[in-house]
Amino acid sequence: MSLLEELIRSIDEIKKAASEEIGNVASISDLEKLRVTYLGRKAELNLILRQLKELSPEERKIVGEKANAVKKELEEKIREKESQLSHTKEKKEIVDFSLPGKKYYVSSEHPIQKLINEICEFFIGLGYEVVSGPEAEIDYYNFTALNIPPYHPARSMHDTLYLSESTLFELEGTEDELREATRKIALLRTHTSPVQIRTMLRKKPPLFIVAPGRCYRRDVPDATHSPVFHQIEGLAVAEGISFSDLKGTLELFLRNLFSQNARVRFRASYFPFTEPSAEVDVSCIICGGDGCRVCKDTGWLEVLGAGMVHPNVLEEVGYDSEKYTGFAFGMGVERLAMLKYGIPDIRLFFENNLKFLEQF
Ligand code: PHE
Repeated sequence: MSLLEELIRSIDEIKKAASEEIGNVASISDLEKLRVTYLGRKAELNLILRQLKELSPEERKIVGEKANAVKKELEEKIREKESQLSHTKEKKEIVDFSLPGKKYYVSSEHPIQKLINEICEFFIGLGYEVVSGPEAEIDYYNFTALNIPPYHPARSMHDTLYLSESTLFELEGTEDELREATRKIALLRTHTSPVQIRTMLRKKPPLFIVAPGRCYRRDVPDATHSPVFHQIEGLAVAEGISFSDLKGTLELFLRNLFSQNARVRFRASYFPFTEPSAEVDVSCIICGGDGCRVCKDTGWLEVLGAGMVHPNVLEEVGYDSEKYTGFAFGMGVERLAMLKYGIPDIRLFFENNLKFLEQF
């Protein structure tokens, strides 16, 4: 075989081998190695070009042109492969299926709303209806109709936020005139009890309702006070309702809310709109009644106000207090939630801190 033939064969073999290897290469770094092998200074093609001087001028032209053409072809192939590989590499970086998914926050009920729903569900199960009333209320429903007449000391205990410019304290007149005047004084309700009045005015007994809602008092916020808070009111009016119905209902309710083993106690108390009135305690859910920091070593937690609806209240809404009797109760939802979930500060319910809310 002449040198010419030999060199042409070598060039063809190089082209074949290089093309194959470039086609199969799977990484940029391996491709770089192939570039050095086939196109670098010590590459076979270059060695061939160095032997050109041993050929005749015509032969030189043939081999030279062929070698250069192959060189160009391989360079092009490498460039193509390179862009192919860097593309797939980029894609891999954008979608890495092995990464954990992004966390999306799903909104959920506020713990206070959750507890309100839970409590309402319980009373719905007993046949009660859920009703509501306005947060901006008139003095007459918040106080007067609830047997809290003008100048009754209970008014000042309520730390009322007034919406009207003039309040009862600036008015003068007879008792009846002042009672009428309270229909024109607007305030933010200090409890949910005005919903008792509103409901009785539009419905006839028998009547079993619960009324959850926001209430307002002029309190400086601290761990146990908030100027905005929630109450749930309960009212049952029918023929023959007795104090033992009230006891049975609240005992069932509190055991369901806290623990079947909880003990419930009624302490004589005073509310203008109930007679007799009681404050209701449940055995401490932290220590079980032995005495601890939460129950201040008494073994008991005060959770509710309750009593038999005062005849004056029934008469005020046009009910015959000789025929109908009823009981009423009111509870602070934040207080119940703090006890149930072991929350030390009422302000946590109003700060909307996700770290807190996420736990419910
Ligand atoms: N309204 C009373 C309060 O806010 C609670 C209560 C409601 C007491 C119904 C007796 C009956 O303190």
